[in-house]
Amino acid sequence: MPLKKGKSKVALVPTMGALHKGHLSLIKIAQQEAEIVVCSIFVNPTQFTDPKDLEKYPRPLEHDIKMLNDAGCNIVFMPTVKEMYPLFPKPEKWHIDLGPAEFLLEGEFRKGHYQGVTQIVKKLFDAVNPDIAFFGQKDFQQVLMIKNMVNVFDLPLEIISCPIIREEDGLAMSSRNIHLSATDRKNALVLNKALTYTKDHFNKLSISELLSHAKAMINNTPGVELDYFTIADESTLLPITNKDVKNSVALVAAKVGDTRLIDNMLL
Ligand code: PAJ
Repeated sequence: MPLKKGKSKVALVPTMGALHKGHLSLIKIAQQEAEIVVCSIFVNPTQFTDPKDLEKYPRPLEHDIKMLNDAGCNIVFMPTVKEMYPLFPKPEKWHIDLGPAEFLLEGEFRKGHYQGVTQIVKKLFDAVNPDIAFFGQKDFQQVLMIKNMVNVFDLPLEIISCPIIREEDGLAMSSRNIHLSATDRKNALVLNKALTYTKDHFNKLSISELLSHAKAMINNTPGVELDYFTIADESTLLPITNKDVKNSVALVAAKVGDTRLIDNMLL
């Protein structure tokens, strides 16, 4: 049943658990904006395209709850799969028009991923009824897709994108980082390095020079297999060919060892 809110503002921070400082930063920002902060933990089966990825997704529940408790989060919402998907494993009818960006980048490599993400986020919104919800810029395309879903249903809530939290050496924090071996962990730094290079040289080099340098950095790193590196328009995610576009972002995805990582940087 949705929360009875009275006059308190309710914030939702949706997660799949295996929490780290990146997730906690969303909780902290939410606490500045709302009186009641709800964090959901739900490993959503409909957004996984690889069953092995779903199976090996880390689920350190007790540790997560302790972290949220220590962070002063008011409510932890942990629905079961049956509660969210009563027909599971039968697929539920869900298909919405998320716009052409759905099929780019992550959408190209993970078919149907954003239908699954928006489906669960809509269900979480229905269950919690928040006034405001917080997502990480780490999943840049995800925030765009969720904003599009909110527009499709004309939902009365605000979506806030929060900065990427990184390890000291620059690696973007991710629940998947625990799968990296010590060697993978070192190799993975090239993603942040290639993004930083692109940002630092954005005014000096052409788009094609930037792309070829960044891609070469990644391709020359052993154990790293590039899926994409692109410089795109922030709102369409289409690649830009010149720098007249006002708001652009560099986005990268690569497999490091067996672990697929994504990262991005506003330019
Ligand atoms: P999950 O990967 O657990 O991430 C939960 C939220 O934390 C997302 O909004 C994500 O962008 C944010 N986040 C992850 N790493 C971050 C970092 N290093 N810095 C800042 N924010 C970070 O994203 C999902 O779960 C799911 O797709 C979900 C939205 C919960 C739907 O199932």
